[in-house]
Amino acid sequence: QEDIFKKLVAHCKEYGFVFQSSEIYDGLGAVYDYGQNGVELKNNIKKYWWDSMVMLHENVVGLDSAIFMHPTIWKASGHVDAFNDPLIDNKDSKKRYRADVLIEDQLAKFEEKMNKEVAKAKKRFGDAFDETQFRETNPRVLANQQKWNDLHARFSKALNDNDLAELKQIIVDQEIACPISGTRNWTDVRQFNLMFGTEMGSTSDGALKVYLRPETAQGIFVNYLNVQKTGRMKIPFGIAQIGKAFRNEIVARQFIFRMREFEQMEMQFFVRPGSELDWFDQWKETRMKWHRALGFGDDNYRFHVHEKLAHYANAAVDVEYKFPFGFKEVEGIHSRTDFDLSQHQEFSGKKIQYYDPELGKSYVPYVVETSIGVDRMFLQIMAASYNEEELEAANGKKDTRVVLRLPAALAPIKLAVMPLVKKDGLPEKAREIIDDLKFDFKCQYDEKDSIGKRYRRQDAVGTPFCVTVDHQTLEDATVTIRYRDTMKQERVAIADLKGMIANEVSF
Ligand code: GAP
Repeated sequence: QEDIFKKLVAHCKEYGFVFQSSEIYDGLGAVYDYGQNGVELKNNIKKYWWDSMVMLHENVVGLDSAIFMHPTIWKASGHVDAFNDPLIDNKDSKKRYRADVLIEDQLAKFEEKMNKEVAKAKKRFGDAFDETQFRETNPRVLANQQKWNDLHARFSKALNDNDLAELKQIIVDQEIACPISGTRNWTDVRQFNLMFGTEMGSTSDGALKVYLRPETAQGIFVNYLNVQKTGRMKIPFGIAQIGKAFRNEIVARQFIFRMREFEQMEMQFFVRPGSELDWFDQWKETRMKWHRALGFGDDNYRFHVHEKLAHYANAAVDVEYKFPFGFKEVEGIHSRTDFDLSQHQEFSGKKIQYYDPELGKSYVPYVVETSIGVDRMFLQIMAASYNEEELEAANGKKDTRVVLRLPAALAPIKLAVMPLVKKDGLPEKAREIIDDLKFDFKCQYDEKDSIGKRYRRQDAVGTPFCVTVDHQTLEDATVTIRYRDTMKQERVAIADLKGMIANEVSF
């Protein structure tokens, strides 16, 4: 699985999806650029989200707020004081870690080691092997399992109590169970604020310290009154926004899974106090349906209910997807109570309330939030779509292809048009077809190499349809259309192409 992930990362680069930022200067940690195919896929993901939120819900409207905001906003939201991750350095290796992530990783490795031991025994004993009995009776496995359970319990408690000294102690103790670098030379764990700061303007009083927003949500909260009043919105209603967010993540991990500059798609849904948990359940189901509608297999998604809630939340759940490196969060759905609006009311001194005509009174609305990372969704879709397939070649020899089974609506290129040969008027005819379709779909013209090679290239970027123009086309205005997933080909009239493709590539 890890191997597949490495191949996926290489594939993203080779086919113009994702490049390391500033690559010719040896890169910049946890910052990435999207190439010619990546930007199309990313735009299609954003459209899939925006359409489902803003177009399909009459009571959800859009917003595009600025990245820079008044610094007091981050004081009110709690980010200045509490948007921290626990940091630890290894003095020998000079490596820096996020303490909680390090412990999680080590626990996972420890578990893997135990599983390997079980797998080895299974191989040795063959069919007669009873895994449950082995796990319950083998002294070594039992002792390790106990050690794992103890460490896990201590870890949960330390996180809950925000006990930095205990986090360090677990790392030290954990090394005994599963050595990290063969050393116990660690610094203390300290809190590290994830916000990037910069300075705005230059006045005689000095410049204003401002932050790059670590979430888009606060731009929505501080515009609540503007949108509610100018849009004459009635509760319940939502405000949706797509935009960049920045976090000075301690460690760069897993490609575009955790980045320092990334994009979020967030929606705040404002509701009557007391109704928030019903809306939370409703959005939870709606969002899971949205994910599953992509067709990557219902079992590959699950909810992870937060046991430990942030101080502002009264319910929180993640939608997790089974990445090659395990089930991980793609989206968070949070019931944020009236915390943010109340804080902004207090810090700004402006009344942020809604007059509910049905109840005949005013209140600070409660908020249910859905929050998803565009980049993380991109990685999820790439991981789910990437396939290496063995094919039976015509001459009986084995052949392979890499195919991105992207949902057609998300594919960067919808249609490739290929003249069979570079002469006899076939290229001109192919261009003619593209000219007719390019206003409706992203098309690509390709005349280089054999048809087989061209098909493979399109498979690798996930193009659902390839159309080949041959000599017969000039006689009867038909072409061969080849389908990416089945590799089946059929002869169709050029006049029918638009309708056929439109049918497949719409959401
Ligand atoms: N407003 C709520 C909020 O920001 P979050 O759980 O911190 O909640 C929401 O982030 C989503 O944003 C995550 O589920 C993830 O998809 C994405 N995300 C968060 N940090 C990220 C990072 N460093 N790199 C890429 N995506 C990230």
